[in-house]
Amino acid sequence: MGSPEGRVGLPTKVAPTPRRPACNTSPMPPDTGPTPDLLLRPLTVADEHDALAAHRELEAEDFPFLLVAVPGEPWDRFVRRVEDERAGRDLPDGWVPATFLVAEVDGVIVGRVSIRHRLNDHLEQVGGHIGYAVLPGCRGRGYATAMLRHALTVARDVGVDRVLLTCDDDNLGSARVIERCGGVLEDTVAVPGSDVPKRRYWAPTSP
Ligand SMILES: CC(C)(COP(=O)(O)OP(=O)(O)OC[C@H]1O[C@@H](n2cnc3c(N)ncnc32)[C@H](O)[C@@H]1OP(=O)(O)O)[C@@H](O)C(=O)NCCC(=O)NCCS
Repeated sequence: MGSPEGRVGLPTKVAPTPRRPACNTSPMPPDTGPTPDLLLRPLTVADEHDALAAHRELEAEDFPFLLVAVPGEPWDRFVRRVEDERAGRDLPDGWVPATFLVAEVDGVIVGRVSIRHRLNDHLEQVGGHIGYAVLPGCRGRGYATAMLRHALTVARDVGVDRVLLTCDDDNLGSARVIERCGGVLEDTVAVPGSDVPKRRYWAPTSP
């Protein structure tokens, strides 16, 4: 079992009204300018509505936004558990400490990144050190590249010199993001239970 890039349930408690418009769901033009003004920050209790909406949106693509969510869990307890996971407190057996950060542009959540502080067997083969996702309406603007660049510095700060980054062999967008952030392909491995092999890259966390 890896610290989780896996399936989770959605908390049932949903806050009523969005505080601000969700990320644009219509296609966005390709980013032609400099690196976007993107902030990575911890999840907070104030994120309940927008983070749950992001979770539902990505779930439609079979990809979790909230990695360790439990159905019906009160949001404030969930946020505390995310913080515990970062601090390595009360981790389930076999899990490793991980930092979960929300990516925000102009006050709107556009994605998330999870930085595992070390590898276990599962992460070594499948999950890698860093997982990320950008909401569908926010893609193609360089956000994932900016998120991963920033996440590399977070990994460095928790003592990781080089990170393992993985993606499905047919996930060309993610492969491009990894390569733009200095990832060097190590190998492509079969994944038990999946038809799609996994690419494994290593990237330094310092320039
Ligand atoms: C993969 C993903 C993170 C890319 O996010 P993004 O914000 O659109 O990525 P960026 O805008 O930073 O794109 C980086 C590069 O990838 C290219 N790219 C993005 N999507 C692509 C696609 N589907 N096919 C080919 N290239 C693609 C971009 O053109 C850009 O290349 P460039 O730098 O040469 O212009 C996003 O599609 C996503 O969240 N997918 C679902 C979750 C997922 O797959 N996460 C990664 C798991 S390993």
